[in-house]
Amino acid sequence: MTRVLIVDDSPDIARLMVKVVEENGHDVVTAINGRQALEVAASEHPDVILLDIMMPGMSGIDVLRHLKASAELKAIPVILVTAMNDDTDVIAGLDQGAQDYVTKPFKREILAARVRSAIRIKQNHDQLVQLNERLKAETAERERMQRELAQAQKLESIGHLAAGIAHEINTPAQYVGDNIRFLKEVLADFEGLLKKLDLLLQAGKQGKITDELLAEVEAAVLEADVDFLTDEVPKAIGQSLEGIDRVANIVRAMKEFSHPGNGGKQAINLNRAIESTLTVSRNEWKYVADLVTDFDPELPPVSCLPGDFNQVILNLVVNGAHAIADVIGENSDSKGTLAIRTRRDEDWVEIQVADTGSGIPEDIRDNIFDHFFTTKEVGKGTGQGLTIARSIVVEKHGGTLSFETQVGRGTKFIIRLPITDASDVDETREPELTEACC
Ligand SMILES: Nc1ncnc2c1ncn2[C@@H]1O[C@H](COP(=O)(O)OP(=O)(O)OP(=O)(O)O)[C@@H](O)[C@H]1O
Ligand SMILES: [Mg+2]
Repeated sequence: MTRVLIVDDSPDIARLMVKVVEENGHDVVTAINGRQALEVAASEHPDVILLDIMMPGMSGIDVLRHLKASAELKAIPVILVTAMNDDTDVIAGLDQGAQDYVTKPFKREILAARVRSAIRIKQNHDQLVQLNERLKAETAERERMQRELAQAQKLESIGHLAAGIAHEINTPAQYVGDNIRFLKEVLADFEGLLKKLDLLLQAGKQGKITDELLAEVEAAVLEADVDFLTDEVPKAIGQSLEGIDRVANIVRAMKEFSHPGNGGKQAINLNRAIESTLTVSRNEWKYVADLVTDFDPELPPVSCLPGDFNQVILNLVVNGAHAIADVIGENSDSKGTLAIRTRRDEDWVEIQVADTGSGIPEDIRDNIFDHFFTTKEVGKGTGQGLTIARSIVVEKHGGTLSFETQVGRGTKFIIRLPITDASDVDETREPELTEACC
């Protein structure tokens, strides 16, 4: 049931208005002055207020001003009730947000029609508010789901990468182990030689070197194969150190790749972040592609969410590797090329991830960023990579993600990120370029 608040200090007029409004099927509440009007409006939440302008104390215009200043009450349509020829107040009232006005004496039908019209407006407004609330709730829910999806994709990709990373670490770990075993054997041979040399030293000091002792030392030297060892031991040590460096590099890249950050943006060296991502994903592309990197060493630190940025690069690199694999086929000896380039373009940085893969057919180019659009078989892709990449680049970083493609030649994805003032972020890392990233 709709409810109308009638505010008038004149009992006769108030009674007449109550009658008309009630006859038209609305509930009525009343007030006889401005202050009471505000109290009743706040407690009863009427759908329409019929407000007399000329009242002693607080005038109708004052009441109107208070109503419109209140977040809770400002949406209630107000119909001013005014004396004939009171144009100034009517204009002031309409300017302050009154919905309509009626002049006294009023025709009953006109009053009823104006109340109906104001109620329709209130109902439309209420519907809009409800729709807006629902829309907000749906948007929040969609954003929550998108966040969860992105998180799930990230976890899935990390899980997937873990197998490749284990393999990448296993290779150097194995040859470091082999080399250390070799050095252990060498040391055992050397022990025999050292003992003989010690005996020779003692005998020399006493002037008692015998031919027999010399023959024994010679035999021990032969057994230890000193020429061979002086060649091989430094090699084994060098190789082991290189293996340890590789493992350390992979571990550092893993730490940087899965960088949880502090939840906020940080000014980071994008070249280095890309290198880390290429290192942890090496097993995904190394069988199908040679890697070419062309990093702008002058690239300024860019404010971004490090974990999210890494995920974008990973998604594009994996897509590129898949597209190349499609062209060269499995177990092929030939490889394609993955080229990653960074450069500065005035207030933007541009990152290009180009592959010499299959290219994107014209009829799906409009769909590749859609949720769950994939051309890959189950287990190889779920169609989320580019949706997430675009949402990270565009929505979270105010950047752009576009592509150029030629069927049969390959595809280049181009990320552009704005270089914002680095003072609004809380960590800067020194640019550091390492060659041995992959
Ligand atoms: N570099 C590329 N070359 C050719 N086609 C591509 C390339 N990148 C994306 N596509 C096409 O766009 C589709 C959508 O890519 P997207 O990364 O969103 O999903 P996906 O790779 O199929 O699965 P996911 O990334 O979720 O594992 C791909 O299935 C593929 O058809
Ligand atoms: Mg993908």
